[in-house]
Amino acid sequence: MFDALSTEANTTVQTVFGLEGISVNWQPPREDGHGDLMTTIALQLAKKVGQSPRDIAQKIAAALASSSSIEKIEVAGAGYVNVWLKPAVLLQELKITEAACTAQKARKGEAPVIVEYSSPNIAKPLGIHHILSTIIGQSIANLYEHLGYYVIHWNYIADWGVQFGKLSVAHRHWGTKSIQEYTLDELLTLYVRFHKEVDAGKPELEEEARKEFKKLEDGDAALRTFLDAVVATTKISLAHLYKRLHVSFDVDLGEGFYEDKMAPVIEEGKRTKVFVEGEKGALITNFAESTGLPPYMIVKGDGATLYSTRDLAQMRYRIDTYHPQAIYIVTDIAQKLHFEQLVATCKQLQWEIPAFENILFGRMRFADGKMSTRTGNIVKLEEVIEEGVHRAAHVISSRGESIQTDDPKALAEMMGVGALVYGVLSQNRKMDIVFDWDKCLSFEGNSAPYLMYTHARACSVLRKAKVQHPKMPKDAHTFTTHERTLLSKLLQFPSTIEAARTEHLPHTLANYLYQLCQDFNAFYSADPIVTAPEAERNLRLALTSLTASVLKTGAELLTLRVPERM
Ligand code: ARG
Repeated sequence: MFDALSTEANTTVQTVFGLEGISVNWQPPREDGHGDLMTTIALQLAKKVGQSPRDIAQKIAAALASSSSIEKIEVAGAGYVNVWLKPAVLLQELKITEAACTAQKARKGEAPVIVEYSSPNIAKPLGIHHILSTIIGQSIANLYEHLGYYVIHWNYIADWGVQFGKLSVAHRHWGTKSIQEYTLDELLTLYVRFHKEVDAGKPELEEEARKEFKKLEDGDAALRTFLDAVVATTKISLAHLYKRLHVSFDVDLGEGFYEDKMAPVIEEGKRTKVFVEGEKGALITNFAESTGLPPYMIVKGDGATLYSTRDLAQMRYRIDTYHPQAIYIVTDIAQKLHFEQLVATCKQLQWEIPAFENILFGRMRFADGKMSTRTGNIVKLEEVIEEGVHRAAHVISSRGESIQTDDPKALAEMMGVGALVYGVLSQNRKMDIVFDWDKCLSFEGNSAPYLMYTHARACSVLRKAKVQHPKMPKDAHTFTTHERTLLSKLLQFPSTIEAARTEHLPHTLANYLYQLCQDFNAFYSADPIVTAPEAERNLRLALTSLTASVLKTGAELLTLRVPERM
């Protein structure tokens, strides 16, 4: 940010204090009204220089006061240096924000970043909890992609496992049609029935299912056809939901894909003695006591492979096939231990693994405590989306004339899905997520409708002024308080998305967009735009247009959509 100022400040530190190679770090001020930039360099240098931070700050301020980019410079508090920049410098800097509204081209030759998310256990409909991995992952992948990374969006579907044995047994006992004809809901009914019967005194069904799955593992053709049909049905239904959520994948190799890729890994682990015999003939990895990790089971005593075995094979496959620079896997906090053990095992195998993070999130619950369902064991994601769209339609119709739209149905879809998604993404994923429909559908506050409404308002100003992409003026005499606050906020967009990407925290982008909406709305109420004298009008229209672009870009990075009219 502000290259010219940065260079000047670095030179100042060098000449005034004789310190070489210090680079002054400028940040946006923590509160509005404290200038455009601030630095804590004086506090950092105090020890080295042997002077009080305030004295150092005074000296820096005095030396920089004559800078051609600075309008005003002030020392505050314990030794902060606050800077107000000249209008022309600020306006010039907005070009970086403008550029940040366009996705960067993927840098040539750069190794890919694999982002794995959603990864549902299938043969049953997606539950509401699946929304978390799905949209947190999509938004993180979007951020990487937008910032010029070559991203592989990966869905690791659990299309393998004893649940298929159970389904097959249920189908044999109580099935009503041929396997291809079942809907996902009917498959769920079969699955639920299986568990009911087990609970009602038929535990032998479990053993039957285990055997059935073993047959599948041993290559039984009929069971393979069965599994393929179930997977196909599931994928059709998933595709429909993903589309509504603006979620998409490049690779959807599920667990079954690794069936024939585990043996070499098991061999390697045995040969290198990383896998050793555990209880009842199982193969396990033990970790050094200092790691605090319990043993990791790789193969069961009866020879059956596990979730861990497939993830090891998958790690190998991803590295060998894609040579990624990073692998990020978005999951529930419940999987933390599994991935710690997985990475520790890879290290013991002396695999060179790329940057890796298991991007974790907390639990989700509804503010009204409702998380159970009519159908039994899961709250279906689709039902929750439908509820959101239904509620949004009600909000739209109850607002009557104050909402302008040619297509209330499309707007309700956008708002209902958006409310759900934004309600999740505006909260810190590291905490438990509390979801409240009323809050999420409110037009005031940190919500999707507020964001949508503000974007539509900015577009409507541009329509009224009959301009599309007004150019940012090169200079301005001065700024009003609201212009200046809005402008400062707009300047922070590039660093905000960069930080949201590196920290894998989409909520920081959401919160930024919320603040931008507030600043824009304050500006909109205080300063006339379309009717202002020409110089002001041009500046204000340009700020309005840039606000609209930033809101749209930011919303889309969060998988949302915003309307031009509302
Ligand atoms: N299918 C798993 C589940 O729903 C999540 C998969 C996470 N990714 C992985 N590579 N193990 O619990």
